[in-house]
Amino acid sequence: MTIERTLTIIKPDAVAAGHVGDILKILESDGFWFAATRLVSLTKKEAEGFYAVHRSRPFFESLTTFMSSGPALVLVLERENAIARLREVMGATNPAQAAPGTIRKLFASNIEHNAIHGSDARETAAFEIGFFFPGIKLL
Ligand code: CMP
Repeated sequence: MTIERTLTIIKPDAVAAGHVGDILKILESDGFWFAATRLVSLTKKEAEGFYAVHRSRPFFESLTTFMSSGPALVLVLERENAIARLREVMGATNPAQAAPGTIRKLFASNIEHNAIHGSDARETAAFEIGFFFPGIKLL
């Protein structure tokens, strides 16, 4: 059994709409342990740094403006197979394609305002955890 860590962000749309409690309940019920949390209000520059991998995408400007538009809740999650499992529980990036019962199906408005972010691989999880929690010791 491999215990992994991944990073999630409950995005400004979901925080503003009052879905934080419901989303945390889904994650906790699924066996995720909250190893660290931070409520952040990202600057545009910080959002650009976090999403640097997407800087050449057409949605980069809009995405980083949205991500710096209000408070967001960042968590380090711990669980067996955390990275892949979080992506299942979140559902597809575009809520129109997300499976019933997934967080994005329940709470996302569209492909950009999609309620939640989750790391997509071990390397990105390490980068993203280090971005928000530079002092945390990785497994
Ligand atoms: P996230 O999991 O945070 O990773 C990158 C984000 O970019 C993604 O969720 C969406 O919010 C956003 N995104 C991805 N694809 C598109 C798209 N085609 N148009 C607008 N935003 C997108």
